[in-house]
Amino acid sequence: GRHVHFEESVTSTQKIAHRLAYEGTPEGTIVVAEEQQAGRGRLDRLWFSPKYTGVWMSIILRPSIPPSQTPQLTLLAAVAVVQGIQEVTGLEPDIKWPNDILIGGKKVVGILTELQAEADRVNSVIIGIGINVNQTIEQFPEELTSIATSLSIQQGDKIDRALLIQSILAKLEDLYHNYLTNGFKVVKLLWESYAISIGKQIIARTLNGSIEGRAIGITDDGVLRLEGMDGTIHLIHSADIEI
Ligand code: BTN
Repeated sequence: GRHVHFEESVTSTQKIAHRLAYEGTPEGTIVVAEEQQAGRGRLDRLWFSPKYTGVWMSIILRPSIPPSQTPQLTLLAAVAVVQGIQEVTGLEPDIKWPNDILIGGKKVVGILTELQAEADRVNSVIIGIGINVNQTIEQFPEELTSIATSLSIQQGDKIDRALLIQSILAKLEDLYHNYLTNGFKVVKLLWESYAISIGKQIIARTLNGSIEGRAIGITDDGVLRLEGMDGTIHLIHSADIEI
């Protein structure tokens, strides 16, 4: 059976998942909450997680891979979420590297992948997935309305969150088993088929400054390859992408 921790209200499912992972919970453990009081996004941002409207969940995996390959799992999770959304809502989301899922250019999903590792060995990977599902436009904070949206705004109907979680977890399980047996190839192809940033002129804002160029693909580790204006190839591990 799956280890599912279902909570009414938490600070962050990510935080709870970190503790469970540290305590040795089995691979596949899931933490889902109706509300997060301090949902975390990438780069120390907050993630707005109001009650009963979204999917706020964290998944613990324990793959035997070096830490350098964990970006692959972020991309794997993004593919699973896109497929789950397609199946349950009929919508066709796009992926913006590395982990944003957009519909009509607005963000509906954020994915945050974190690690517990010792030396060069991954102990656990904690994949946090936040999906705006049933929020109305009025329920978004003013400053988000131009950049964020929800599945129900896009689709016009209220969406069954339990069904969505089930569908995403089923896709994730399939992709993960395939990944463990056959490697990253299939995930990489699927990811590239949903990605909007590849082939485009982009600006990657990293902690060390911005690089402008053309996104030409991802490496076998899941790292973005960017061709700079002077033809140099840059490997981007973490950045905000402007298209
Ligand atoms: C991003 O910045 O785009 C990533 C957002 C990740 C949000 C999810 S919601 C479930 C999990 N718990 C958190 O506190 N964050 C992640």
